[in-house]
Amino acid sequence: MLKPEAARESLREHMLLLREFVRYPFHTAALAPSSRHLAHRMAAAVPLSTAKSVVELGPGTGALTKALLPRLDQQARFLAVELNPTFAEEWRRQFPGRQVEVGNVVNLRQICSRHDMHSADCIVSGLPWPSFPIALQEAGLEEVLSLLNPGGQMVTFGYHVGMCMPSGRHFMRLAQKRFRHVERLAWEWRNLPPAYILRCTR
Ligand SMILES: C[S@@+](CC[C@H](N)C(=O)[O-])C[C@H]1O[C@@H](n2cnc3c(N)ncnc32)[C@H](O)[C@@H]1O
Repeated sequence: MLKPEAARESLREHMLLLREFVRYPFHTAALAPSSRHLAHRMAAAVPLSTAKSVVELGPGTGALTKALLPRLDQQARFLAVELNPTFAEEWRRQFPGRQVEVGNVVNLRQICSRHDMHSADCIVSGLPWPSFPIALQEAGLEEVLSLLNPGGQMVTFGYHVGMCMPSGRHFMRLAQKRFRHVERLAWEWRNLPPAYILRCTR
């Protein structure tokens, strides 16, 4: 059971995500923040503790960030990139001292280089790739690939509905073509809706 204050905070995050979903359904593409179970599985899927530079894409209300930050080495660089300024503002409130840039994944390298970050060992993505138009999937994935070090990994998640959409199938084919290795990890059922995790190695 959550303590009253934690329950209030969780409700606030849910309401904010829901409100932004109504405003920007295709960018937000989720009715609830990821569960802590999904967040822990995502964080455990990539070698965060040895990574020197980590980027989080589409942090939203910070559901994944909460599981990522405690695993990072103290010296590791960390940057979050979020399209929606309302989410970025909420994220800054929750993680003072950490950096989030308002921007689009298609400008990822440029955004990171402004922070003197020229490569990444791990990218944790909350982006709704299947709901992106094909041109955005392709441009975004190229940015991810050119930022990742050889052997570096991106972990991302998706829902069953996205997997069945033609654009979701296109994303899977694209990832399989452009990454050296793509693994679909077991479903996380304790999430609304249940989600699969994809680990892609450059
Ligand atoms: C499905 S929500 C995930 C939020 C959070 N990571 C979670 O797991 O609860 C997708 C997030 O990606 C952001 N986003 C969508 N398109 C983006 C883009 N092109 N570049 C950067 N962020 C984007 C949205 O604003 C939103 O915060």
